[in-house]
Amino acid sequence: MSRATAIAYANLGLAKYWGKRPGAGNLPAAGSVGVNLKALRTITTASVIDGDRDEIRLDGENSPKAAARAGAFLDLVRELAGKPLHFRIESRNDFPTAAGLASSSSGFAALAAAAAHAADLRLDERALSALARKGSGSAARAIPGGVTRLIPDVDEPYAVSIAPPEALPWVWSIGVAKTGPKDISSRDGMAACAETSSFHDAWIRRAREDAETLERLVLSGDVDGAGALIEANALAMHADGFAARPPLVYFLPATLAAWRAAVELRRQGVMAWFTCDAGPHPVLMHPPQHAARVRETLLAIPGLERVIVSAAAGGVEVTG
Ligand code: DP6
Repeated sequence: MSRATAIAYANLGLAKYWGKRPGAGNLPAAGSVGVNLKALRTITTASVIDGDRDEIRLDGENSPKAAARAGAFLDLVRELAGKPLHFRIESRNDFPTAAGLASSSSGFAALAAAAAHAADLRLDERALSALARKGSGSAARAIPGGVTRLIPDVDEPYAVSIAPPEALPWVWSIGVAKTGPKDISSRDGMAACAETSSFHDAWIRRAREDAETLERLVLSGDVDGAGALIEANALAMHADGFAARPPLVYFLPATLAAWRAAVELRRQGVMAWFTCDAGPHPVLMHPPQHAARVRETLLAIPGLERVIVSAAAGGVEVTG
């Protein structure tokens, strides 16, 4: 095949990945657990082309920084193929990019799958996940389906599916915050924490433990136990940023208000749990029958302008 299209779903960290071990190859310092979200898809087509350079179009634009990162990733595909192939890459996110939710997880998972297929590399799921990881750590978790866990302590960390999408009987309500101050990428944020946060080593120990505990909770069907751990884990990750110098604070007032709202909803018997990635957008996970109530709650928070509700999804899909 010299052309392939891949669809990947953004993988939201549940037990977060936030820190790398030394060395080349984008190696995570600890395990992490995430879930693929159906409403946040990236669709990428890779074609092998004649010529001596890649043509990369991301979301219809030519962003030099994003294109350079994708180009560097394609070098890895060329290396695996053992041939100086060049690619035309066309990639779009099937969700509002203006919302600032564009995720490197679905982006690099789709790019890895499309380019590997177009180059006729026959990679199994483990190898494809390890390849996607080199583009972005969370992308490794977007290759397998459902609830996925990154295995950290091997030469080439990769992710496996630990449970099908329905194992967590929730939907994910994403509160889209009005854009605040300039974004600091996850990559830069975790590097700043490793260098300057006095909490970072403690966070990494906690992250290791949490990933293992969360897997057990999911497998034993302890949904509320899982929710409580996911919420505490996200706050601990953000605390690592709070302790950085200068402080790295992704939260806006609306983010914290959404956490308070989750606490209040639970007091009223609606089991909604909070998480948040490296940005201001809060995510509440909860049983689907409470979607209208959660939406109303989030939209009542000043600073949140819309809500995207998503179910969990399977893994990356490749078509011709
Ligand atoms: C906060 O996967 O974007 O979303 O490997 O440097 O590309 P790089 O980082 P990235 O980090 C994601 C961090 C997070 C938590 C998570 O997804 O587990």
